[in-house]
Amino acid sequence: MSFTLSVNGARRQVDLPGDVPLLWALRDGLAMTGTKFGCGVAACGACTVLIDGEAVRSCQVPLADAGGEITTIEGLGQPGALAPLQEAWVKHQVAQCGYCQSGQIMQAASLLAQIPDPTDQDIDDAMQGNLCRCGTYPRIRAAIHEAATMMKAG
Ligand code: FES
Ligand code: FES
Repeated sequence: MSFTLSVNGARRQVDLPGDVPLLWALRDGLAMTGTKFGCGVAACGACTVLIDGEAVRSCQVPLADAGGEITTIEGLGQPGALAPLQEAWVKHQVAQCGYCQSGQIMQAASLLAQIPDPTDQDIDDAMQGNLCRCGTYPRIRAAIHEAATMMKAG
């Protein structure tokens, strides 16, 4: 079956069954491999993308239900320019193995859209479902504060 998705500002056609998770539609259907598979059961956050600005676990969204504007890690910045969150991530050298990090950044993007100047507690609450086996949590927190400051400064 054919579905049309709105991904990172473009209309994209995917020819896969409607019950295929959005995660696999992105990775296998559209070759957008920045979004990662970790658990497949909404328990790790590695597959997080935004739909209409809200963080969702793409392993849990059937392709047939994936309406709205989807934003993946590939579409977070502008062409040729990193988003503030990505710049802050680099500055704080957050990524270790890197596997969880696209999901972490997308979850953080959703947080900053809702709370532009989050407290440590806001960050911990928002990020608690995104697991990192490398234990980068303190760096994630620092990078989110940095990105918030950068975004405030414009
Ligand atoms: S792969 Fe979706 S939450 Fe783990
Ligand atoms: S950086 Fe390795 S799992 Fe998070």
